[in-house]
Amino acid sequence: MELYTLLSVFVLVVCIIISTLLYYFQYQKHKDGTLNLPPGKMGLPWLGESLDFLTAMRNGGKPEIFIFSRLAKYYGSEQLNGVFKTRLFGNNVVAMAGTTTNKLIFANENKLVTMWWPPFINKAFPSSNKKLSINEDFAKKKVRQMEIIPNFLRKTEWLKRYVPLMDDCTRRHIAAGAWGPSDRIEAYTVAKHYTFNVACRVFMNIEAQDDPDTVASLFDPFNVLLTGILSFPIDLPGTKFNRAIKASKKIREKIGNIIKKRRMDMAEGKAAPTQDILSHILESSIDPTYLNDFDLASMILGLLTAGQDTSSNIITFIFKYLAECPLVYEAVYKEQMEIARAKEEGELLNWEDIQKMKYSWCVACEVLRLAPAVQATYRVAITDFMHNGFLIPKGWKIYWSTHSTHRSPECFPEPEKFDPTRFEGQGPEPYSFVPFGGGPRMCPGKEYARLTILTFMHNIVTRFKWETLLPDEKIIISPIPRPEHNLPLRVFSH
Ligand code: HEM
Repeated sequence: MELYTLLSVFVLVVCIIISTLLYYFQYQKHKDGTLNLPPGKMGLPWLGESLDFLTAMRNGGKPEIFIFSRLAKYYGSEQLNGVFKTRLFGNNVVAMAGTTTNKLIFANENKLVTMWWPPFINKAFPSSNKKLSINEDFAKKKVRQMEIIPNFLRKTEWLKRYVPLMDDCTRRHIAAGAWGPSDRIEAYTVAKHYTFNVACRVFMNIEAQDDPDTVASLFDPFNVLLTGILSFPIDLPGTKFNRAIKASKKIREKIGNIIKKRRMDMAEGKAAPTQDILSHILESSIDPTYLNDFDLASMILGLLTAGQDTSSNIITFIFKYLAECPLVYEAVYKEQMEIARAKEEGELLNWEDIQKMKYSWCVACEVLRLAPAVQATYRVAITDFMHNGFLIPKGWKIYWSTHSTHRSPECFPEPEKFDPTRFEGQGPEPYSFVPFGGGPRMCPGKEYARLTILTFMHNIVTRFKWETLLPDEKIIISPIPRPEHNLPLRVFSH
């Protein structure tokens, strides 16, 4: 036992010395009198300021506190465009927010910075080609080059087809009693089922009401994946992370079978080439060297993952803010009822209807401002460069935060106030409202998400009104924000 303790202490001391030396040499290498690292504290080896960072997210649900308190400390005021250094989970990090930072990141993708994901994420989204991992330039080039994602997620002619599909799916979802047997629902649970059902329908033509077993067989492991993929990355039997990897394999196998069957159905003329995103991809004859069925299943899973919790998070917060702001609810109701009254009985929503939902989209934008699903993402510096007079060394990670910009009074006066009219007319200043990112890596699912959100708003607001059952429910961020008890609501039919 004593030997074990001694060994542990020895290993810890060696780690501390190595990390300190590494940091010292890295710092010295760039310290030539004129070049300076940003102010900040690196904290303990490996751990750095990770605990403070996690506390700000989990307890207060306010990650911007981590940024604002340090900006105040290092600059004497909450200077939004300031930068500071820190260490998070073993990485040397420069934290940045504000409009000049956003401009810098968006304009210099692959010049000064490039996307960075913790390498363990690849375990859940593997590729048949080792080069095709999500961290590789190769993947970016090939996937983008083939324009797969923009083609089916951004093209207006395709998006137009999704609107009635989404509306039909939402109506069936509500009619099937997805709201629960009583007038009490959990908004987060409803939103998760809704966005998943819509994705199954639009991506793979699987309708939850017609084929509940297939949807459930994907939904359950999918949630295990979403919970585990961002947990502590220890791949040992029984850990959440390990369960996530297994769940990913299971879903990819199922999607793989769906792809195989679809190929046959299309060859026999049983499936239309335009019926959903999957048919569209298969129809576009992508060179299998770059995207075989294994990779395609992994890519579809990646898209479902990127779109699922993000969209359901926004829908959950729309429920919350509409319950808390009756005047805003009334204005959305008025707009949506005008659209509903102009339709024939049973007629589905179409693209033109969505374009009329201007105020509703302002409401969704205000929700995206206050509770952005992607609170921040990472980049890595691919070369040394200067920002605000400080050196950002090659290899350091950049913690690029949307929430701090969105909550800053410099960009949004009275930032805590829920005010959808901020988005009317000219809207916010350029680079201040960035829930979908910007530049070459801007979210390709933005329009798809807009359609999902507005279709849902139309269907719930024209049918129901609701009140929260747990006022002041705590918000936690893990890493997507959500109400701690899934936002229980009492719902009233109109
Ligand atoms: C309200 C919903 C959504 C929000 C707030 C959101 C936000 C974002 C943000 C901020 C990024 C950029 C990350 C960065 O710059 O590092 C991103 C990337 C991405 N999003 Fe979304 N997203 C949403 C919905 C979706 C949906 C529905 C899909 C797919 C169907 C999707 C697919 C993706 C993909 C594939 C990327 C990576 C793009 C790349 O690396 O080039 N997102 N999203």
